[in-house]
Amino acid sequence: MMEIISDAKTWRALMTQWRHDGDHIGFCPTMGALHAGHLSLVEHAREQCDRVGVSIFVNPTQFNQATDLAAYPRPIDADLAMMQAAGVDAVFVPEVHEIYPVYPEPTAVRVEVGELGQRFEGADRPGHFSGMATVVSILLNVTQAHAAYFGEKDFQQLVIVNALVRDLMIDTKIVGVPTLREAGGLAMSSRNVRLSEQGRFEARVIIQALQVAQEAALHGGSVGQVERALRDHLATCADLRVSYAQIVDPVSLLPVSPEVRHGNYRALVAGVIEGVRLLDNAEVRFPPS
Ligand code: PAJ
Repeated sequence: MMEIISDAKTWRALMTQWRHDGDHIGFCPTMGALHAGHLSLVEHAREQCDRVGVSIFVNPTQFNQATDLAAYPRPIDADLAMMQAAGVDAVFVPEVHEIYPVYPEPTAVRVEVGELGQRFEGADRPGHFSGMATVVSILLNVTQAHAAYFGEKDFQQLVIVNALVRDLMIDTKIVGVPTLREAGGLAMSSRNVRLSEQGRFEARVIIQALQVAQEAALHGGSVGQVERALRDHLATCADLRVSYAQIVDPVSLLPVSPEVRHGNYRALVAGVIEGVRLLDNAEVRFPPS
């Protein structure tokens, strides 16, 4: 039977019991509205751990717009059924006041993310990654899992969470899970349902551009040439408004000099089709020196 727990004290007690039983605990934090991409995190955790816990919490402190927060879907019954079917052992579904007792007042202490949180997805969303890092710290502390699973789909988030456990010495191993994709290659996201059939078809230009970049790198292009190939391919879709398309260092997220020809980097892409913001990224390997 899957346990459904809404208070932090009971959740902590269950996790402590599992640890005392000698079980290896895997933890997948989510905001609910679960889809196959989230399921893939759970499947990785199930393969690698004895017990799997999932949290469902729409974290208000990582939203910039009150309207976005209010509009965020909360299909809790469907989510719980999906987790039960996936073999999850326990789900943590706290109310806002369980995590933030004085909400909407801010908590006295929160996690600050430096430059890593200001670029890309952080550029137009001040405080987003601070709110994310704060809730992830709270969830990792109350759970104390052996491993926690995050999608590569949100690559900047994964990088920041890795920096968080390193810098705050949190004793949980962070596991990055490859992006689950639809048949045409579009990264799975709860936002995809807002695309028309035509928009969904056009959105494949993003994964295609990432593949063009990967091939250009393997064939001996420089970072500058590969970045141009990436952007040129994205530009073939007139209905895509590109926010950024850049090759970065996978740990610092800093841009890589255009003349570089060796090493493994990450191509990050974000853009808007039909008013829907789409994110994707892929590893780009250049030949070894
Ligand atoms: P949410 O958007 O619900 O995503 C939960 C996890 O699922 C994240 O680690 C995300 O990267 C992963 N995920 C989403 N789509 C995926 C896909 N197509 N393939 C693989 N993994 C995918 O990210 C958050 O929630 C929140 O910021 C959270 C970390 C829970 C903190 O509030």
